[in-house]
Amino acid sequence: MAVENHYEYIRVQPQPHGFGAAITGLSIAEPLPAPVLGEVKKAWAAHSVICFPDQPLTHSQLEAFTRQFGEFGVDPYIVPMEGHPHILELRREPDEKAVNFGAQWHSDWSFQEEPPAGTILHAKVTPPVGGDTLYADCYRAYEDMSDTMKRLLDGLVAIHSASLPYGKEGLFAKETEARTMKIVVSEEADKTWPHPLVRVHPVTRRRALYVSPVYTLGIEGMTRGESAAMLAYLYQHMVRDEYVYRHRWSPDMLTLWDNRCTVHNADGGYDGHLRVMHRTTIAGERPIGVSAASA
Ligand code: SIN
Repeated sequence: MAVENHYEYIRVQPQPHGFGAAITGLSIAEPLPAPVLGEVKKAWAAHSVICFPDQPLTHSQLEAFTRQFGEFGVDPYIVPMEGHPHILELRREPDEKAVNFGAQWHSDWSFQEEPPAGTILHAKVTPPVGGDTLYADCYRAYEDMSDTMKRLLDGLVAIHSASLPYGKEGLFAKETEARTMKIVVSEEADKTWPHPLVRVHPVTRRRALYVSPVYTLGIEGMTRGESAAMLAYLYQHMVRDEYVYRHRWSPDMLTLWDNRCTVHNADGGYDGHLRVMHRTTIAGERPIGVSAASA
């Protein structure tokens, strides 16, 4: 796709799929001057998933880049890098058999009262095959629905929890294969938090579906069967091909995604190869639903 011409300081090239964009023409190793940062934020709001190829960064540069977008988010259940409490190393060794981390559709930490607005992933070692990340556009998934469906969903509240992956009876607790990443399973993970099923983005004011098979347990006020049927429909709808962008990594690429309007899924397919990514999160706000946003 053509480079967009309404940026003065950066080069913004939408992905061929039409969702997500690559940003070049700048170095992110040093603090960005205000007008450049302003354009990066504008591109992030417009494209939801932005990547910066060929940007080698030290740990402190990654931390400093993150802080230009807000406070660090709170990352529970994974032991961070030593000396860097806000960086998680997503590392999978060539001989590792445990399923790769993040291998199901989700929006990061949606079980929190204030889930992270954004997540940053910096590629250190990328496998020669596989290891892509899939992103789904939850704005478009919502916008394409009928007005009748939108009216129903706009008033619903979904229950989120970390229990499925991180609870005492969760997937990681039951895991039998060795894993390099240090996961902490906890009773704390069984707590639940309600969020509007349709979320109004605080910057763009667009509406997006806000549920995922990893962290959503059900829908308030519905029977178990109704809730399961509705969520099953939403999960297949929101990841239809036309909403999904397959992101291919290269070493030193940094990608910043918006958890308020996207879900993502780490694809595997790289057994026998090392993959190492460094991850930070940007603190977010309590999700606002349609009625609160229009009040
Ligand atoms: C994640 O869910 O944060 C992991 C994404 C990835 O490793 O591709």
